[in-house]
Amino acid sequence: MAKKQSARGKGGKKPARKPAKKTAKKAPRKKLAKKPARKPAKKPSNAKSAKKTARKPAPRRPEGPPSPQLPPEAMIMQGLFGFMMTKGLGVAADLGIADALKGGPLYYTDLASVVGADQRALHRVMRMLAGHGLFDEPKPGTFANNAVSDLLRVDHPHSMAGMTKMICGESHWQPWGRLEHTVRTGKSGAFHAFGEEIFTWFQKPQNKSEWDVFNDAMTSMSLGQAPLIAQSYDFAKFRRVVDVGGGHGHLLKHVVAQAPNATGVLFDMPDVVAGADLPPNIVRDGGDFFARVPEGADCYMLKAIIHDWSDDHCRKILGNIARVMDPSGRVLLFETVMPDEPGPHPAKFADVNMLAMTDGGCERTPAEFAELFASAGLQLVGITPLPDGWTNIVEARKV
Ligand SMILES: C[S@@+](CC[C@H](N)C(=O)[O-])C[C@H]1O[C@@H](n2cnc3c(N)ncnc32)[C@H](O)[C@@H]1O
Repeated sequence: MAKKQSARGKGGKKPARKPAKKTAKKAPRKKLAKKPARKPAKKPSNAKSAKKTARKPAPRRPEGPPSPQLPPEAMIMQGLFGFMMTKGLGVAADLGIADALKGGPLYYTDLASVVGADQRALHRVMRMLAGHGLFDEPKPGTFANNAVSDLLRVDHPHSMAGMTKMICGESHWQPWGRLEHTVRTGKSGAFHAFGEEIFTWFQKPQNKSEWDVFNDAMTSMSLGQAPLIAQSYDFAKFRRVVDVGGGHGHLLKHVVAQAPNATGVLFDMPDVVAGADLPPNIVRDGGDFFARVPEGADCYMLKAIIHDWSDDHCRKILGNIARVMDPSGRVLLFETVMPDEPGPHPAKFADVNMLAMTDGGCERTPAEFAELFASAGLQLVGITPLPDGWTNIVEARKV
């Protein structure tokens, strides 16, 4: 069961991340602690307190840095080899390898003729991927799907093929190649690579295929998230649910299925909503969320939107919502949340992706969400981590 987490600072408790259950139950609703403190770690002020601290060994940090299991040189090489795995996965997705192996194992020469690849080159890439568990190699040169590569099949219910193609495609590969410029200048890699910000670049007719890949990736990300979100919150209380930047409406369809009295409004850029296949209880509305959002709803959802934009941009979007929402309504963000603590967390990768790809986008801590809402006429109600270990429901109301 998902549990609501209060906003917390450095000294706060880490929210429990429970293993995924097959069916998520409604998240229990708990009031948020008032001020999400961002306290620096306390230093002992005198010898007595230092002694006291020394006697009580600090509890082991649950999310501390991983203890290196490899020699240092191997850790560096593992880091450097990482992009080879990334690109190998991208090639596997682009060629449709997992789809070709759906019927059973294939020797690499047969696999190459099914997917239209050079036999030897394909063998070498597959050997690398299978060597790291991403495919199986039951006999030398014969490749098969496993639970990991199954996710690269386009027909898998939780397919990650779209996401893989996007991360390895031009829209991301070029900006990431300019990460050094980004770190030196603070300007997005997309700006360095394309001379404009990523969503402007995507809208150019010559980048249509990359835009299609991006939209597929968003849908593929939503495949697992949407049912989980729909089951983890009480949507039945709403009468009008707007998905702001809702893409092709995958999440909204799941949500309105849980809200029999509600109509859904899919709001995104005009060409995006035009491409959505929607049931009769969802209407489409094309527009620019910096200019306006549909009026009078009691629920505004934004999944993977706020992390794309700077605080100033987000204030515009959230301010537009606060102005027109039903005063008793809710704003629900579905985002990963940056922990305050050191140590591994997927939000730390996602955050650098936002650095490379966007103009000021980032993954935010609970305190940063609270500040952002407050500056847009909203108030953070609470944060509910979902059992996938990635998605959180970040809930706000009108002040
Ligand atoms: C990261 S995607 C998220 C899509 C969807 N919420 C999901 O999670 O699958 C960002 C979405 O914001 C939309 N978007 C970007 N700029 C926009 C704007 N100015 N007005 C309306 N929608 C916009 C994009 O078209 C895209 O669908």
